[in-house]
Amino acid sequence: MNDSPGGGPTVTRLSRYTKTEQDEILGTGDDPFGVADTGLTWLPKDEHFGVRLDGRLVAHAGLLRLPITVDGVETEVMGVGGVAVAPGVRGRGLARLVLAAALDHARTQGPRHALLFCRPPLVPLYERLGWRPLDTDVRVEQPGSRVVTMPLRTMVTPLRDDARWPAGPVRLRSLPM
Ligand SMILES: CC(C)(COP(=O)(O)OP(=O)(O)OC[C@H]1O[C@@H](n2cnc3c(N)ncnc32)[C@H](O)[C@@H]1OP(=O)(O)O)[C@@H](O)C(=O)NCCC(=O)NCCS
Repeated sequence: MNDSPGGGPTVTRLSRYTKTEQDEILGTGDDPFGVADTGLTWLPKDEHFGVRLDGRLVAHAGLLRLPITVDGVETEVMGVGGVAVAPGVRGRGLARLVLAAALDHARTQGPRHALLFCRPPLVPLYERLGWRPLDTDVRVEQPGSRVVTMPLRTMVTPLRDDARWPAGPVRLRSLPM
């Protein structure tokens, strides 16, 4: 069990998060995130946050720090990815919980914003969690020195009270996460 004294589930840092752990949450389907049709190559995340219920991993959010250019200014963001909750326990706040823990950690890392990519139907869910979609196109790197326009929605959330996302073109200086 990994429940808090108050009875609710708690988030822990995971020492590893491979396909095995992802399958434990989402099953072994080919395209559990529904993004295979983009054909994009993604980066693995550096840090992993998870929720276990009765010993089984049921939720995950990953983080990594990435270089980005916004309106011509080079900076960094905390990329969030691999957000996943097991089908049987969705709608109980586990994405909210695991993302809150990941963002608590992200706030200690320096970048002023976190950024994620999601399918359009998930925009309202992330808005509910305090994220907002960018209106501008976002360019990301792909293998072979290619730079492509991200076909998914890009969402950001501030990591500091005074952080404001600048207007202007956005270019991630890495593969997307
Ligand atoms: C997306 C996913 C992670 C959500 O997990 P979840 O545990 O069901 O989410 P939560 O229960 O924490 O819900 C988060 C919030 O969004 C709200 N919400 C859910 N669906 C919503 C919708 N369609 N519109 C608006 N808000 C919505 C919830 O009410 C909750 O807000 P609340 O805490 O204020 O009630 C889960 O469905 C999943 O793993 N999907 C497959 C993998 C995937 O697509 N991951 C996303 C990659 S970007």
